[in-house]
Amino acid sequence: MPKKENAGRQTPINAQPRIHQHAAEIQAYGTVSHALPLDLDEAVRLEMTEQLNQLLADSMTLRDLYKKAHWQVAGPTFYQLHLLFDKHFGEQVEIVDTIAERIQLLGGISIAMAPDVAETTKIERPPRGREEVPVQISRLLDAHLIIVGECRTLAARASELGDDGTNDTVVSDVLRTNELQSWFLTEHLVEMPLVHAQDPVMRKAG
Ligand SMILES: [Fe+2]
Repeated sequence: MPKKENAGRQTPINAQPRIHQHAAEIQAYGTVSHALPLDLDEAVRLEMTEQLNQLLADSMTLRDLYKKAHWQVAGPTFYQLHLLFDKHFGEQVEIVDTIAERIQLLGGISIAMAPDVAETTKIERPPRGREEVPVQISRLLDAHLIIVGECRTLAARASELGDDGTNDTVVSDVLRTNELQSWFLTEHLVEMPLVHAQDPVMRKAG
């Protein structure tokens, strides 16, 4: 009797939006969902998502460090660094999304909110105030160094466990971009005359 079967599902039509709703989580952080058609054991996906979340927290911190530097940079190189920092920020935004979606794809939960990122990241917290350009760049390079190291460890482990997708994402998307950004920053820390070439005679005398 179709009428009786559908009776329980019927709800009165009401145009009122149902706001302020709450319910229990549908999956706890640090777990992976079962039986995904990926041919990767649950233990592998657990280990990979844990390490990817560390890489994610550090990439989110570096992303925000770039925006801080973009806003607060000062001095004769203001314009070029203002633009460069924002370019790198945009590339880190892409990286963050790629890592987070890799974690979800593996059945895990991506870290997302600032307080959780702050608790997890290995990158040193900068002061709220403004810092000189060489200090800004040094902070960014220190952050890149942490991320590059994590990429190498994670990529090697992913390869060992047969998670080729994670290996490829970490090497192709994260590691290579971080290496390139590190190069662009490092060249700004080379002592170089801005207007007058250094006189070789004067250099000898000095
Ligand atoms: Fe801006």
